[in-house]
Amino acid sequence: MARLVSVLGVLALLFFVERSLGERAKITLVNNGYEGMLVAIAESVPISESDEIILRIKLFFTFASKDLFQATYHRVYFRNVTILVPKVS
Ligand SMILES: *[C@@H]1O[C@H](CO)[C@@H](O)[C@H](O)[C@H]1NC(C)=O
Repeated sequence: MARLVSVLGVLALLFFVERSLGERAKITLVNNGYEGMLVAIAESVPISESDEIILRIKLFFTFASKDLFQATYHRVYFRNVTILVPKVS
């Protein structure tokens, strides 16, 4: 249940981003898979926590994609997501 709420949240965010940024966001639905999503890690996040956060983002989208696929009766899933990490200064 909590995961479904998360998936709906991500979807809502996705549609919002898609509508507000349109072409600039370049989130596209190709052959039932969402492509071009970008998740940026804030610069304020300590580098020592990066690996853990990247792992969590990967796990989140892996499971969210699976749930989305099931929830939409095999209509859509997340094909790829880019994780942007802060520059090491
Ligand atoms: C996402 O997947 C599509 C199809 O495989 C590919 O063309 C595109 O370059 C990928 N995007 C990223 C950011 O990897």
